[in-house]
Amino acid sequence: MQMKMKLILTIISTALLFSACSNTQPQEAPKKVLSEEEVKFEARKAIRVVGGAFMQTLKAKVREGGLSNAATFCSAHTDDLYNEVSKNLDEGVSVKRITDKPRNMQNMATDEQLLVLKEIQRKFNNNERIGMVVKQKSENHYQVYKPIIMMAKCLNCHGDSKTINKEAYEIVSKKYPQDMAINYKAGDFRGAFLVDIIK
Ligand code: HEC
Repeated sequence: MQMKMKLILTIISTALLFSACSNTQPQEAPKKVLSEEEVKFEARKAIRVVGGAFMQTLKAKVREGGLSNAATFCSAHTDDLYNEVSKNLDEGVSVKRITDKPRNMQNMATDEQLLVLKEIQRKFNNNERIGMVVKQKSENHYQVYKPIIMMAKCLNCHGDSKTINKEAYEIVSKKYPQDMAINYKAGDFRGAFLVDIIK
């Protein structure tokens, strides 16, 4: 009889322990509205719209009037161009560029974003594959980081004293006296497109 009583008490206290536990445990990870593949698909689509427009415009402005012309345009009209192309994004989707060394301070990564950029940089330095990084913020809210790598043609406005185009950079530095986005080399990790998706 005593054994039985003990057993019952043990079962009850164990049950209590578990229920107490589950009450104090942190909330479960949010459910997913989209799969990781669906999120990446949305992100790729959005970056094609915004990144594509930026690249096309840069090319067109260089073709029209050389690097100084492009520098003048980028220094004055990047926001307008962004607002214009953003109209083509799906509802609930936005794209921005973030970096730890901004030219335009509005593109400075937040502390949380800097941690993700650092992690990408670490992988990059180790020659690990760096694809898109997906962070789920809540059940229906995702943020996707797509690394941006420097190409030789970028150095005209983001390079060092050897590679930078002096004329173009004079225009840039007037508009951005606090510019940090220089001294890059081709192949350097520059920052990321950050795609925000709310479904
Ligand atoms: C003609 C000069 C010029 C060239 C060439 C150029 N950029 Fe820029 N870049 C700028 C200017 C000016 C800004 C600041 C625009 C703004 O206000 O967002 C900028 C901003 C950026 C930003 C946003 C982050 C920040 O620092 O504010 C990224 C990322 C970037 N450039 C990457 C590139 C890449 C990659 C290339 C090559 C494909 C490139 N740039 C070529 C002039 C240039």
